[in-house]
Amino acid sequence: MKIFNLFSIILTFCFLGNVVSSVDSLPYETIFNFGDSISDTGNAMAFHRDHPMPSDSPYGYTYFKHPAGRFLNGRLIIDFIAEAYGLPFLPAVKNLTKDQDIRKGVNFAVAGSTALEELFFTSHGVMVPATNNSLSVQLGWFKELKSSLCKNIEECDVYFKKSLFLVGEIGGNDVIQYAFGQKTITEIREIVPIIVEAIANTTSALIEEGAIELVVPGNFPIGCNAAFLTMVDSKKKEDFDEFGCLVAYNNLVEYFNEQLKNAIKTLQQKNSQAKIIYFDYYNDAKRLYQAPQQYGFTSDKNEILKACCGLDGPYNVNFNVPCGGPGTKVCSDTSKLINWDGAHLTEAAYRMIAKGLVEGPFANPSLQTPPFKIA
Ligand SMILES: *[C@@H]1O[C@H](CO)[C@@H](O)[C@H](O)[C@H]1NC(C)=O
Ligand SMILES: *[C@@H]1O[C@H](CO)[C@@H](O)[C@H](O)[C@H]1NC(C)=O
Ligand SMILES: *[C@@H]1O[C@H](CO)[C@@H](O)[C@H](O)[C@H]1NC(C)=O
Repeated sequence: MKIFNLFSIILTFCFLGNVVSSVDSLPYETIFNFGDSISDTGNAMAFHRDHPMPSDSPYGYTYFKHPAGRFLNGRLIIDFIAEAYGLPFLPAVKNLTKDQDIRKGVNFAVAGSTALEELFFTSHGVMVPATNNSLSVQLGWFKELKSSLCKNIEECDVYFKKSLFLVGEIGGNDVIQYAFGQKTITEIREIVPIIVEAIANTTSALIEEGAIELVVPGNFPIGCNAAFLTMVDSKKKEDFDEFGCLVAYNNLVEYFNEQLKNAIKTLQQKNSQAKIIYFDYYNDAKRLYQAPQQYGFTSDKNEILKACCGLDGPYNVNFNVPCGGPGTKVCSDTSKLINWDGAHLTEAAYRMIAKGLVEGPFANPSLQTPPFKIA
């Protein structure tokens, strides 16, 4: 009996030892994410049930085999990041079950959300955004949840020291509200500093809450995006670069990203205890359009800018009949195209982008060394 007890104690110790050391060895214990559809893992779906992803739609099917609250066929950049760091997929804050363990991360991102408030758009004569769950609303949800994550300053300090906060991508929908609201590029440029200020304000507020390591991603090359290409519908050759992307829209994003990087620099100078990382989504994604075959995509110059799921038009995008709607088709091999449904990219593209961030040169400064490779 005694021997058995001793044996089980030793076993218990070995077991605990293993658990403790494997937890200790993870660079991050938690990820908190804020943003829009680029990183929403189920919040919009929790708000709207099966709209716009009915259970029989092709969203999610490549990986999850059913719509999984994500606006693409499989995993998002944030899913690949969580996997690389040995963490579970982030549960959506609006889809939590009672007593669900959220100590390893929560996702506040909502598809359609903007960096700026709804009032900003209505007061500028632009359509109301698809959702009023702007970045500051998401920050409010985090503050509400904080007391259930850690109890006092000391406990929160220890906990947040090993937490990664992602503030975005956000701001893409602010640009979309303006662009699809018939505003000129010049008019969009004028609101960029305000969008950037909103992102910087939330980043700053999170640092005040105790965040130590934060990521602020820039925006994508929207000039190569099937939805923008369809909206602009230019017949002028000089509007496009050699890869078929809209020069003016890519320049706009470059301007946006430069402003954002300056804001990060200022925040970093003010908060030396924090580490603020810039994710270069722009160049990380742009290389895919420039040398698609190098990353496993089709080398067909006509096909590469098309959406995989959609209907009609030069880019397979029809704004009246979105992916999953009547008559829409899904491309035969989702791993050959960069764009999924017009606005969003495919899992294959997000995988490459995530690799570029976690293992490659597109995070500045780098994240902690990931324990797992992105397959
Ligand atoms: C929402 O929560 C339910 C219950 O836990 C879960 O089955 C479902 O997968 C969640 N949805 C998403 C998109 O994660
Ligand atoms: C956001 O929109 C929802 C639904 O339309 C509404 O119930 C809610 O009051 C709005 N919230 C704010 C802060 O405007
Ligand atoms: C950012 O914060 C400052 C200081 O509180 C405030 O004056 C400004 O309006 C905020 N900007 C945005 C875009 O929210």
